Amino acid sequence: MFISFEGIDGSGKSTQAWLLAEALRAEGRDVLATREPGGSPGAEQIRRLVLEGDPDRWSAETEILLFTAARRDHLERTIRPALAAGRIVICDRFADSTRMYQGLTRGDLRATVDVLHAMMIGLEPDLTFLIDIDPAEGLGRALARKGTEERFEDFGVAMQARMRAGFLALATEFPGRFRVINGARAPEAVAAEVTALARAALA
Ligand code: ADP
Ligand code: TYD
Repeated sequence: MFISFEGIDGSGKSTQAWLLAEALRAEGRDVLATREPGGSPGAEQIRRLVLEGDPDRWSAETEILLFTAARRDHLERTIRPALAAGRIVICDRFADSTRMYQGLTRGDLRATVDVLHAMMIGLEPDLTFLIDIDPAEGLGRALARKGTEERFEDFGVAMQARMRAGFLALATEFPGRFRVINGARAPEAVAAEVTALARAALA
């Protein structure tokens, strides 16, 4: 079982991915929690290239290549071996993030993302939790965190709003694997719903 968490910055994905991993481990399940960009040593190096520095550092096309290269390494070295060993893999962001961030922010590059995904990745999660939240609230949470990984957070609230709409459209496009979760609640309330849906999918 391969589970991903998606949503705009600050929606609570990392918090929820962690809480789900803990809940499933408490039931005795073997869980690998990982994240993108990153999740393998090579992909973590690429993470620094794409998340730090000037917002104009890379074109959208170059970014698609970098995120896909990181994903390919993550897939080869971390995700595929864990799935082959029968583990549950929980990933904080996966290809849907590239469809949205690189596919939508600077023109319509969704088709390019999908072609490269089919060629180099070819795997979709079994279950995707979209943590949905008001863009201003998400951006407020993300900026309060303050760090060096802010290339995309600099895009501002209007872009976050477009991204939110894009993620909701993606959930309609792939209704089989997507579960849309209201993220504007206490973390425990969100986690209870996520855990119940994951258990149902595992059963
Ligand atoms: P993401 O991974 O989607 O960017 P995080 O899980 O890192 O989101 O959460 C962003 C910030 O908001 C963190 O400081 C986190 O503690 C806080 N946070 C997470 N979930 C909630 C929630 N349900 N309500 C309020 N704050 C939250
Ligand atoms: P992440 O660490 O999940 O940030 P946050 O906790 O703020 O949501 O992801 C870092 C950034 O990388 C985020 O702004 C989205 C961006 N990103 C892409 O642009 N494309 C991708 O394919 C992925 C996986 C992430």
